[in-house]
Amino acid sequence: MDRPVILKGRKVSLAVLHKEDVKKLWLWYNDRNIRKYLSNPEKIFFLEDELEWYERIRKEKEKHKVFAIIENGSENLTGLIGIHNIDYKNGKAEIGYFLWRDYWGRGYATEAVRLTLRYCFEWLNLRKVYAHVFEPNAASSKVLEKNGFVLAGRWRKHVHVPENGFVDVLCYELMREDWKG
Ligand SMILES: CC(C)(COP(=O)(O)OP(=O)(O)OC[C@H]1O[C@@H](n2cnc3c(N)ncnc32)[C@H](O)[C@@H]1OP(=O)(O)O)[C@@H](O)C(=O)NCCC(=O)NCCS
Repeated sequence: MDRPVILKGRKVSLAVLHKEDVKKLWLWYNDRNIRKYLSNPEKIFFLEDELEWYERIRKEKEKHKVFAIIENGSENLTGLIGIHNIDYKNGKAEIGYFLWRDYWGRGYATEAVRLTLRYCFEWLNLRKVYAHVFEPNAASSKVLEKNGFVLAGRWRKHVHVPENGFVDVLCYELMREDWKG
């Protein structure tokens, strides 16, 4: 499947999402290991919900940029990374990401975040990028910290995560001047 690559990395690249990807994403979004640390972990998705989501992100490109994370070499879709709530007036946006389980632990998320930061700072000319992590999600905190994000604060016992109870939400941020490129 031909797919325009937006930014190429060493292990993964950020590329344009296809409508044909939606079926795979629908299966992944319903996987409780993936959902657990995402917003609304209890949520169950129908294929039609995902198609509507695809149309929404396609139409609201100014507000959200969502990239397919592609494995270099195989060109397989491995996950998604999104830049959300883009606020051009204040020069900030939030990032969120997930990878399919088969691809965890290979450094893919770390590199996808690195590429996304480049897109945020060099292509969107933002001044700040932020992210929220549920405290038990140590892998995600590590991904952000490896990319230079700092812990700005926390919301205590802010969300309920299945099998964890109420957990803190960690607020991470990275200013453009602290970004190592
Ligand atoms: C979080 C997630 C994106 C990480 O993806 P990944 O590709 O495995 O991440 P990377 O391999 O780039 O880096 C993970 C790092 O966390 C570390 N790590 C993994 N599990 C850990 C744990 N339980 N405790 C501490 N560190 C852990 C890894 O060792 C690695 O660090 P290292 O490179 O220094 O060894 C992936 O697990 C995922 O998609 N989870 C479900 C969705 C999700 O949580 N999204 C983020 C919401 S904020």
